[in-house]
Amino acid sequence: MKVTVVGAGAVGASCAEYIAIKDFASEVTLIDIKEGFAEGKAMDLMQCASLNGFDTKITGVTNNYAATAGSDVAVITSGIPRKPGMTREELIGINAGIVKSVSENLIKHSPNVIIIVVSNPMDTMAYLAHKATGLPKNRIIGMGGALDSARFKFRLAEALGCPASDVDGMVIGGHSDTGMVPLIGKAVRNSVKVSEFLSEERMQEVVEATKVGGATLTKLLGTSAWYAPGAAVSAMVQAIALDSKKMFPCSALLEGEYGLNDISIGVPCIIGKNGIEKIVEIELSEAELAKIQESAVGVKATNALLD
Ligand code: LAC
Repeated sequence: MKVTVVGAGAVGASCAEYIAIKDFASEVTLIDIKEGFAEGKAMDLMQCASLNGFDTKITGVTNNYAATAGSDVAVITSGIPRKPGMTREELIGINAGIVKSVSENLIKHSPNVIIIVVSNPMDTMAYLAHKATGLPKNRIIGMGGALDSARFKFRLAEALGCPASDVDGMVIGGHSDTGMVPLIGKAVRNSVKVSEFLSEERMQEVVEATKVGGATLTKLLGTSAWYAPGAAVSAMVQAIALDSKKMFPCSALLEGEYGLNDISIGVPCIIGKNGIEKIVEIELSEAELAKIQESAVGVKATNALLD
């Protein structure tokens, strides 16, 4: 499998690194507009091959999309990241132009590619990639829910005082501070609802900390996070590469699911060799349903800024 990662910044490089370490792809091409930058990151990563034991070949190119030809999967991380105090939505002006031209360039050279969108505001950028490319809806996947769910599990594990591998939970809705819907009522520790261990107040704290997970890190780091975003993308690329039919909440183009239309927003999806193979409609409580509807209003308001 050949994977292209557009943008060799922190998220793109971390994503390429995790893909290589997991050793399921034959080739990763990093592409960036900054002269020599992707080449440098690729060389640095390739010098880890003998140490970390991977055979994936990582190459870097400056803005030459011909080098991405024949990619099975492409990850778009390019654009500007948010700075402390900024919302993801504030990035739309610059990032929309970048994501549109990047996705058009990608399909020119890789007509069968599956695109994973990471650039923010992610749900709107995924929607824009659909509009710009006209690709079938299974082939454009927005990465947000996999990351937000990992952050949810981190907060749940912290509250429960247990390892993250003991907990399971999912965040649906928009990838924004106000739009995320952590499904706390469905979260479990080894099949037991977390409400059996945590007070209502503690559960609400977990939900709130999850929703501002990205903002908390942006404040600490001075820019947006990269390890968990990179790990989340690599897990999704791996599910495509291995056709593993894993379920991740992803930003998918909806056509009536959850009562929503003409919007890309986080919902549970089965990921396999064809990208989004199925959108799973789980039963939501009235409160959960109301929250995803409200989240959709926010995402649509951001989408309207594209016009
Ligand atoms: C974050 C960015 C990737 O949440 O949106 O860290």
